[in-house]
Amino acid sequence: MSRSLCRRRGTKRNVIVFTAMAIVICISMNIIASNFLKHHSKSPGFMQKYLKLKTEGLSKKGGNSNSSNKESYQTCVHPSLPLWGPEVDNYMESIEPVECSNDEDWVYTGNGRFYISEAAKRKHGRIKCAYIPIVNVNDSFKPLKTVFPMLNNSVLLSDAFKVSCKAMNGNKYANIHACIAPTTPRIHVENHKRDGFNVLIFGFDSLSRQMFKRFLPKTHEYFTETLKGTLFESYNIIGDGTVQALLPMLTGKQEMEIPEVRRGKKGAKHVDEVVEFVWTKYERKGYITQWTEDLANVGTFNYRMLGFENQPVNHYMRPFYLAAAPLYSYFKRYCLGSRTRHQVFLDWLKEGLENYKDGNFFTFGFFSEYTHDNNNPVRLADDDNVRFLRWLNDTGILENTFLVVMSDHGVRYGSIRQTELGKLEERMPYYGIYAPSKFRLKHPAKYAALMKNSRRLVIPSDIHRTLLDIIDEKADQNNSVVESYSLFTEIPKERTCADAGIEPHWCACLNSKPVPVSDAIVISSVKTILSKINEILEIVAYSCRKLSLNKILKSVSMETRSEVLKFKKSADLDGRKADLSDKMEAQYMYYQVTFETNPNNGVYEATALVNKKTGDISVNEREISRLNHYHNDPECIAELYPALRPYCVCKR
Ligand SMILES: *[C@@H]1O[C@H](CO)[C@@H](O)[C@H](O)[C@H]1NC(C)=O
Ligand SMILES: *[C@@H]1O[C@H](CO)[C@@H](O)[C@H](O)[C@H]1NC(C)=O
Ligand SMILES: *[C@@H]1O[C@H](CO)[C@@H](O)[C@H](O)[C@H]1NC(C)=O
Ligand SMILES: *[C@@H]1O[C@H](CO)[C@@H](O)[C@H](O)[C@H]1NC(C)=O
Ligand SMILES: *[C@@H]1O[C@H](CO)[C@@H](O)[C@H](O)[C@H]1NC(C)=O
Repeated sequence: MSRSLCRRRGTKRNVIVFTAMAIVICISMNIIASNFLKHHSKSPGFMQKYLKLKTEGLSKKGGNSNSSNKESYQTCVHPSLPLWGPEVDNYMESIEPVECSNDEDWVYTGNGRFYISEAAKRKHGRIKCAYIPIVNVNDSFKPLKTVFPMLNNSVLLSDAFKVSCKAMNGNKYANIHACIAPTTPRIHVENHKRDGFNVLIFGFDSLSRQMFKRFLPKTHEYFTETLKGTLFESYNIIGDGTVQALLPMLTGKQEMEIPEVRRGKKGAKHVDEVVEFVWTKYERKGYITQWTEDLANVGTFNYRMLGFENQPVNHYMRPFYLAAAPLYSYFKRYCLGSRTRHQVFLDWLKEGLENYKDGNFFTFGFFSEYTHDNNNPVRLADDDNVRFLRWLNDTGILENTFLVVMSDHGVRYGSIRQTELGKLEERMPYYGIYAPSKFRLKHPAKYAALMKNSRRLVIPSDIHRTLLDIIDEKADQNNSVVESYSLFTEIPKERTCADAGIEPHWCACLNSKPVPVSDAIVISSVKTILSKINEILEIVAYSCRKLSLNKILKSVSMETRSEVLKFKKSADLDGRKADLSDKMEAQYMYYQVTFETNPNNGVYEATALVNKKTGDISVNEREISRLNHYHNDPECIAELYPALRPYCVCKR
């Protein structure tokens, strides 16, 4: 009964699916699920996460073990990949710490002005500087006439400049700086919108979700635990490389859908001539826009493509990077003066946010230098990222800002891409969204859908629709080959890779098929799960009885799709054709088993991860659910160990 009620609620109000309340109501009407609620009442953070993971299966299943899997679960299930293992050990390299010049930069910027540092003056004596503004021309850079002397407190003339200074003591300073100048294309302060939600997208190139967790553990923890940002666990790439991630995210279109924009092709046009970018829509609505990617030489829309005819955003760091890259060799590794280039990138984002935080902004920074060829150096960014995120919170910016922490895809180079783990990780980038408190209060139903979609199959063009939704714009679905969804409405759990326009060799959803309950691996998996349960029970061994297997009710195996295993590389430069000649067998298999135990007649469902190569079977406690009611079985420990109630049957 509770089951149909929950479901009717779902279909009738397609949009208002699960507010946090509805989740609780639905679940509390459901005996089984309520066990889980109590079961995890110890730590609220954990409980929330647990509910997010389990509600779907439970509220539809209602403890009825005869409902079929198809009905209970969403069609696309992504693997929960191991964090560590031999493939990862082989990939890890030690990274030298980064050490920039210990002579503090003599020059800094802020509030649209150029400053000479007081500390530098004290150290070196009076300082005189020559200043060369660098501007954007035809998506390249051009130095303007030198200003000399550039006095302290002068107004900045462009978003990038070279500067060389000489001090009384004979010492010199030369550097290139990025900044936020007031004299910037198309800014009309009088039109600056103030009552919308801001967007800040903070991304790293080529960093899978797992690699992000491995190499940026503090950033990941701060984002998910402290800020309570939500990871989209079934976010799947739709093709090879950065373009296939950023183009649909920013325009709603895939490369194949837009007119020719590639260099050297007849009749090719600039990208902004053939498709409108979402930041242009934001700008029209009165937002200040800001975008940068640090590897400008291989810019996403410039390397294979013709780039932009007009400067795409108000503040654009491309000219800075084009002018700076040839100078990198004059500085210490990963540095420009006394700051790392990663810090320069963060400071540029901050300077924009600081200048415009009283009005609305759309800001997107995408950093590649630490990850593009090899992910290992990105560990150097972890502490600075956390400081940046903390600053966003402490300034109050996040109260009104959607923060997207993301990547485009996983590692594409090196031996790890030729492992099964690497292939899956490439298809599963980090994608997290933090919705600001003001949004949660104002739009609880949209927020609930966003939370629910964190488990649903999501593609980059869904992000585009979501970005439009934030400014109440509709997407143009006229010619789209693929239906996309705003994350503020529920994505159907039946959505497949085919529905989402993902070719089979890019689809990381697992292939699932029933296996006989008599299968040897199924039996081993169940035994491992039972050992795990009995291990959990050890702490209450004096009160609770050991569980043993009565019978296995159902088993399903899930494994990597053969097309993913066969994928070797893209067969052409544009990533439009696939070389499917790799010969690889699935190494990881997931066994989802339902079984009954003695002496409590407990029905459990759990997933075991089987490494076919090594024979190792592993089980995560979080992946074990009790499907039927435990009545008073655990009353002897219920008070003291509420988390163990699903497993304990008291000795009498
Ligand atoms: C359980 O399975 C039987 C037979 O397949 C079916 O008739 C019944 O409707 C199922 N019950 C539920 C609640 O799905
Ligand atoms: C430059 O101006 C700023 C702001 O007025 C001031 O704080 C700073 O001390 C000045 N620097 C020098 C070298 O005079
Ligand atoms: C920019 O491109 C336009 C059109 O291609 C051209 O006419 C113009 O000379 C270019 N400007 C510069 C400074 O190269
Ligand atoms: C976030 O900032 C607010 C003030 O804006 C502060 O009260 C809160 O403690 C901060 N949270 C964290 C985790 O630092
Ligand atoms: C979509 O197609 C309809 C009918 O062809 C047309 O009237 C409408 O303008 C199109 N919308 C956009 C945004 O192009």
